[in-house]
Amino acid sequence: MKVDVLLGLQWGDEGKGKIVDVLTPQYDIIARFQGGPNAGHTLIFDGIKHVLHTIPSGIFHKEVMNVIGNGVVIDPVIFRKEVDELLALGVEVKPRLLISRKAHLILPTHRLLDAANEKEKGKKKIGSTLRGIGPTYMDKTGRNGLRVGDIFRPDFKERYDALVSKHRGLLAHFDYDYDLSEFEPAWLEAIEFLRNMQVIDSEHWINEQLDAGKRVLAEGAQGALLDIDFGSYPFVTSSTTTSAGACTGLGIAPNRIGEVIGIFKAYCTRVGSGPFPSELHDETGDALRAAGHEFGATTGRPRRCGWLDIPALHYATMINGVTKLCMMKADVLGDFDTVPVCTHYDVDGEQTNRLPYNVDEGVLQPVTQDMPGWPGDQTGIRTVEELPSTLVDYMVYIEEKMGVPIDIVSLGPDRVQTIIRNS
Ligand code: GDP
Ligand code: IMO
Ligand code: MG
Repeated sequence: MKVDVLLGLQWGDEGKGKIVDVLTPQYDIIARFQGGPNAGHTLIFDGIKHVLHTIPSGIFHKEVMNVIGNGVVIDPVIFRKEVDELLALGVEVKPRLLISRKAHLILPTHRLLDAANEKEKGKKKIGSTLRGIGPTYMDKTGRNGLRVGDIFRPDFKERYDALVSKHRGLLAHFDYDYDLSEFEPAWLEAIEFLRNMQVIDSEHWINEQLDAGKRVLAEGAQGALLDIDFGSYPFVTSSTTTSAGACTGLGIAPNRIGEVIGIFKAYCTRVGSGPFPSELHDETGDALRAAGHEFGATTGRPRRCGWLDIPALHYATMINGVTKLCMMKADVLGDFDTVPVCTHYDVDGEQTNRLPYNVDEGVLQPVTQDMPGWPGDQTGIRTVEELPSTLVDYMVYIEEKMGVPIDIVSLGPDRVQTIIRNS
């Protein structure tokens, strides 16, 4: 069997959690392959709203196994809180969750370093979620990191102390006050909690499951435009958010990738700093934020809003090898009579449909085209036949530009507000 990959095509928060939950009944295994608790994946069903950060979005389905792959970074404190919240809802996490021995640990000092770095950057800050993601991946590639498997070593505490001492040395270079004793006891307790989970060599396990005919869905975090290589560097996250990341983050070979399901909002949002060509700085942007409840699921920060950016979406479709598209939050545009889309950019008087290397402020202007809207409340629609013709035209337009079909359209946050167009 092959691994299908589901991932975001914009700057994150496209609705990955919702669609993974919708698609989970078609799979045996749901696996996260990168990122960490910078992610906030929202699921709404049966009157419950739940936000997951580290745990895969298949966790609510009894018959499915969930895997936190080697490419993920885990904060034991946040992980423990997530497990406790699920237990309170009656979800038995331990039997349904496997954790890779090779996943890296986020230390309290990684979070402090994240905060100190951002403070030093001042106005040029990345707008990080301050979850310690960047410093943890730096220690991974710098070959200093601690992994989940290390917590079973007899000298784990010494290894932890050695890394903390290195971090204290780094923190001394910043004008940053901290008190590690505020965070350390809870972290060490959470390590004990993690020891009781099912920790395995997940790359072996997943490949064996594929050989046995099991169906696997890899769940991305963040989005293509936040990718460490292809995103709007340096305003990116520190992992490979694209489909290639599913290979390295789970230990599956490229020829085992099946469908690549790319998710995008019918418009665009971004949280944190960095270029956003089609951003609306006016009351229309505010109206989009209000209608779409565009506030971060992890940090609560207001999301920046703008129209759909076709060249950026095309770029994300290309680098991911997307085979199926999912369009989210089309209902939010029900407040607008016309829906502009950014078709290309004006760079120094020249029109281009390629995002240039330099996207510093003022370098490029978006060129938009007005599309007829689909005013009204679309949240009660449950069948393809009920979709307004102008909304179908909008999707056909995008399908032609991308050369990929839109198989799913989402018209509300609940599991049931999802229309499957092509099976
Ligand atoms: P993720 O990080 O990609 O999983 O997305 P988030 O959960 O951070 O953000 C998506 C937000 O949009 C959440 O609040 C969802 O409940 C909500 N949402 C998802 N799909 C739809 C939709 O089709 N319509 C509306 N109105 N909200 C949606
Ligand atoms: P999900 O999985 C939206 C953004 C941050 C910041 C940049 C770097 O919910 O879609 P980091 O903490 O990774 O160092 O922050 O990336 N960011 C996200 N934005 N959704 C996310 O995840 C994000 N994870 C990180 O806002 O701009
Ligand atoms: Mg999110």
